[in-house]
Amino acid sequence: MAGSLRSVLPLLSAVLLSCWCCIAGAARPVRPDIRGGGNASFVTAWCAGTEYPALCNATLSPYAATVGDSPTRLACAALNVTLAGARNATKAMKGMAAGGQLAPAAAEAARDCVSMLGDAVGLLGQSVEAMSEAAAEEEGRAPQPSRRMARFRVDSVLTWASAALTDGDVCMDGFKGQAAGHGGVRKAVRRHVLGLVHLSANALCIVNAMANQAPP
Ligand SMILES: *[C@@H]1O[C@H](CO)[C@@H](O)[C@H](O)[C@H]1NC(C)=O
Ligand SMILES: *[C@@H]1O[C@H](CO)[C@@H](O)[C@H](O)[C@H]1NC(C)=O
Ligand SMILES: *[C@@H]1O[C@H](CO)[C@@H](O)[C@H](O)[C@H]1NC(C)=O
Ligand SMILES: *[C@@H]1O[C@H](CO)[C@@H](O)[C@H](O)[C@H]1NC(C)=O
Repeated sequence: MAGSLRSVLPLLSAVLLSCWCCIAGAARPVRPDIRGGGNASFVTAWCAGTEYPALCNATLSPYAATVGDSPTRLACAALNVTLAGARNATKAMKGMAAGGQLAPAAAEAARDCVSMLGDAVGLLGQSVEAMSEAAAEEEGRAPQPSRRMARFRVDSVLTWASAALTDGDVCMDGFKGQAAGHGGVRKAVRRHVLGLVHLSANALCIVNAMANQAPP
C-alpha cells in the first residue's frame, strides 16, 4: 500500500510544485537585473521566487561565488544543500529510533522514517551527480548531450527530488496519530525533517526554473 502511494505522490507533488513556482514567478513582474547585479544578487533573485525564499537565500548565498550566474550550478548547489539536509534528518531519526525511549508505534514509525530518508539521500545523491554532469557539459568540460537526453535528465532529477520531498512528508505523517506522535514526539520529528522538506521544495522550484532558463 505504502509502496503504491509513494510511486504516485512524487509525480503529483512535482506537478503541483512546478505550478506553484510558475504562479509565484508570474506574480513578480519586477525583477532585479540578475546578469548585471553580480553573483550574490543572482542567488537572491532566483531564491525570491521559491517557496521558502529566506531559507533559499540563507543556504545558497554561501555558494554565490561558485554559482556565478549559472542556473545549472545554482540547481546543483540547491540539490547538494538538500542532500546535506537529508543526511542530517536521517542521522537525527536514526538517533531517535535507536534511543529506546519511544513507544512501540513511534519506534516503528521512526524505523520507517530512517528507511525512507535513506532512500531520499540516495535519490538526491543521483540528482547532484546528474546536475554536476549538466554543469560540466555547459562549461565545455564534457561533450554536449542531445536536447532529448538533457530533457530526460532534468525530468529524472525532478522526479527524484520530488520523491525525496514525499519521503520527508510521509515520514512526518507517520507520527500524526496519537499512538506514535504523543509526548512531544511529533514535534521533535517535525523539527528534524521539516528542513529537508522545505529544502526539497526549493530545489524542485530551482531545477524547474533552470529548465525554463528563467528565474522562478
Ligand atoms: C541573502 O543573504 C545574504 C547573505 O547572507 C544577505 O546579505 C542578504 O541580505 C540576503 N537577502 C535577502 C533578500 O534575504
Ligand atoms: C562570480 O563567480 C565567478 C566564478 O563562478 C568568479 O570568477 C567571479 O569573480 C564572481 N564574481 C563576483 C562579482 O563575485
Ligand atoms: C556538495 O557539498 C559537499 C559538502 O557538503 C562538497 O564537498 C561537494 O563538493 C559538493 N558537491 C557538488 C557537486 O557541489
Ligand atoms: C545539520 O545539522 C547541523 C546541527 O546538527 C546544523 O548546524 C546544520 O545547519 C544542518 N544542516 C542542514 C543542511 O540541515
